[in-house]
Parts: sequence; C-alpha cells; structure tokens
Amino acid sequence: MDAQTTAYSKVPKTAKPRQGFATGLGAIAATLGSAVGLGNIWKFPYMTGQNGGAAFILVYLLCLFIAGLPVMLAEFIIGRRSKANAVRSFKKLAPGTSWYLTGVAGVTSAVVIMFFYSCVAGWVYAYIFKAASGALAAVDPAQTPAVFEALTASPLIPLLWQWVVLAVVGTVIIAGVQNGIERVAKTVLPILFVLLIVCDIRALTLPGAAAGVNFLFRPDFSKITPAVFLAALGLSFFKMSVAMGVMTTYGSYMGPEDNLPASMLKVALSDTLVSIMAGLAIFPAVFAFGYQADAGPSLLFITIPMVFNSMPLGQLFLTLFFLLAAIAATGAMISLMEVPVAYLTEENNWPRTKATLVSVLVVAAFGALATFSTSILSHVQLWGRTFFDFFDFITSSIFMPIAGVAISLFAGWVLTTKVIVAEGSNNGQLNNQGFLSALAFILKFVTPVAVTVVLLSGLGFIKL
Ligand code: PHE
Repeated sequence: MDAQTTAYSKVPKTAKPRQGFATGLGAIAATLGSAVGLGNIWKFPYMTGQNGGAAFILVYLLCLFIAGLPVMLAEFIIGRRSKANAVRSFKKLAPGTSWYLTGVAGVTSAVVIMFFYSCVAGWVYAYIFKAASGALAAVDPAQTPAVFEALTASPLIPLLWQWVVLAVVGTVIIAGVQNGIERVAKTVLPILFVLLIVCDIRALTLPGAAAGVNFLFRPDFSKITPAVFLAALGLSFFKMSVAMGVMTTYGSYMGPEDNLPASMLKVALSDTLVSIMAGLAIFPAVFAFGYQADAGPSLLFITIPMVFNSMPLGQLFLTLFFLLAAIAATGAMISLMEVPVAYLTEENNWPRTKATLVSVLVVAAFGALATFSTSILSHVQLWGRTFFDFFDFITSSIFMPIAGVAISLFAGWVLTTKVIVAEGSNNGQLNNQGFLSALAFILKFVTPVAVTVVLLSGLGFIKL
C-alpha cells in the first residue's frame, strides 16, 4: 500500500475486523476473571473481619451501588457504544473534547498497576512450588516469615517468577479475545470455585473453626466509621476493576444483545461470594490454631502458610490455595494487559502479537523496579516511597479516583440519562429502565462527590 492510500483510507486494507466476546456468558466469565483477584484473598476478608463483619459486608454492598457498579455500567456503555479502546472510545463519543484524557489515565493506570501486580503474582507462583515441594511444610512455623524474606530479598528469583507471569499472560493475550481471554476465563473460573469449596470444607471442619466464622461475620455497626466507609468505597472500585480502562475495553467486546446491567450484577454478586468464600477458607483456620489475623502480603505469604502447615494434609491444601490465588491473580493481570494491547493494536494498527510483546516488555522493564524494591533497590525512594509503594500509591490514590470521577461525570452529564437508559436497555428491549435511571442519577450526583472525598482523603487533604 503506498503512502497516499494509507493516509486517505480510514481503515487500512490490512485491518482485521474487530473481535469481541463470542457469547454473553463468555463476557461475564471474562469480566469476573478480572474482578476476582488478590483483592478477594488479602483485602476483602481481612477488612470485613476488622471492620464490623456482616455490618461491613452491608456497607460494602451499599458502596458497590454508589461507586463500583455505576462506574462499571458507565464503562460498559462507553465501550460498547463506541466499539473502541479506552482512549478512542471517548474520542468517538465526544469528538474534539479533552474527555479522552480520562482514557489516557485509564491506560496509564492499567500499565502502572501491572508493574507491582505482576511482582506479587510472581511471589504467588513461587509459593505454589514452595508449598508443593514441602519446602514450607518442612520449616518450623516460626520460620515462615524467614522464607518470605529470603524470597523477596533475592533480586533474581522473584524477577524470574515475574517473567513467568508475564509469559503466561502474554500467551493468553496473543491467543486473542475469544480464544485467549474468554476461553481461559471459562476454563479456570470453575476450577477456582472448586478449589475454594475444597479449602472451605477443610477449614470449616477444624475444631475451633467457629471463632473464625465469628470474626468474619459478627455484625458490629459501631465499627462503621467515615474512614471505614471511604475504605469500602475504594475497595468497591478496586474489586470491580473500574477506572483503569479494563471495563471500557471489555465493554467494547460485548455484543448488542448482551444485558449489561444483568452482567454487572452477576459479576458483583459472584465476586463478593468469592471474597466471602476466601475468608471462610482462611479465618476459621487462623483462629483454630491461635494465630493473629493479619492483612496484605503478610496474610498471604506468612500467616496462611503457617496456618495450613498446622493442619492435617496441610501441604496439599496449601498448594491448592496458592493455585487458586495464582488463578485469581493471573485473571486480573490478563484484563490489565488487554488495555494497552487493545490501545496499541487500534491506534498503531499493530498486529496483536507485536502490541502484546511491546506491552509485556514495558511491564517487565518497569516491573523490575517494583520487584527490586525489596532487594537491591530497597533504599531508593520516590516521595518517601519505594518503587513498589510509589506505583501502588499513584494508581490507587491518584489516577483511579480521578478517572472514576471523570467517568461518572462523563456518563451522567455528557452522555446523559437518555443514552444510559437506551444503551443499558438495548434500546428499550429490556425492561430495566427504572433501574438504569436510578444508576444514571447516582452517576450524576452521588458517585462524583463520594469519589472526590476518597481522593482528597487519600491525598491527606481530609483527615477522618
Ligand atoms: N479486581 C482485582 C482484585 O480484586 C484487581 C484489579 C484491579 C484487576 C484493576 C484489574 C484491574 O484483585
């Protein structure tokens, strides 16, 4: 093709037709594969136990309706209506305006999140093998923290595991939207559920398990403070994988017959169920053996191995548990990787393989900085944070809330209620207009205010 043809033809002859998810069920599976991640295992159960049990779960569900779900619906609508990547979608729906910067923030966050998420996923992969080989069972439980410290203090081993994660994710992405993302989600999610049920049965049949169930569910409304409420709002965003281009991109792969609000509700319910089931696999055992409930990396890499090693067949169950954590982390990574890949293939007309290789290499290069944060670069600080914490901070405290506010304002005020109701009801075919009007109202007036408060408090401008 000569230069002139390229310049004048909008769609080059080489461009393949845009692929989408093959079925509505596949779209739900892929979306659930993104929602289910490390958040279900190391964030949700601990926050629930710590902040009022069943009362926290109710508050979280409320937050889903104030923040996570309206923004998810907005992204689905922006994506499906424009049939384009996270940046171009805004350019198509609001040509000549700056709204596309919302998409730029999304793509940037997706890439930056992968810098540290791939590092943690690498630790999880490493632990499957440590658990299976008996390397964890062999140590005295008191030495479990030392195993984690030894892994993270080495620069090379975690780096290699991070590359394994990226190779797995890259392979799925290159296979395509239907043959890669959709097929893998449909295959591994049932496995994840089975593994969770197996681990739940093991944990709940331990003597003394009731104290853990009590820790998780005992409702205590006095724990619900404004700070807990804000944390639940932030959690609803992170859990639903919104405000980073993922759901806009996945929305663009959904078909005209897909029921967007119903898919969204199914994903949110199933995801919450996975979190609760993960909590039931962890906390009864923690209490049965008299360990302290903990949060974050130390829950997954220290407390859980200690606890599982104290139970009969612990080595087996620990391996299964890390396998399910790896499935969860990989699904989240796949959805994040699709964001820059969709962008690069459409904007640069690159083949999928090239777009994937470039994205993987960028994540590998900068992700190494996150990985080295616990070893050779532990002394390097940006704004008082290691690279790992810095990447986490700018995405979860800055980019994500800003993009969340922008998406809700865009949907509510630029697209308006009319478009939200029309697109969400498949042009009146579905009988859900009342529900959609309510979500449109929330998007206009409630979400922007609530998420602005999250942003200001995350930056320290509001002290609660
Ligand atoms: N939802 C995932 C989790 O809970 C995390 C995630 C965030 C994945 C953003 C993709 C995009 O772990």
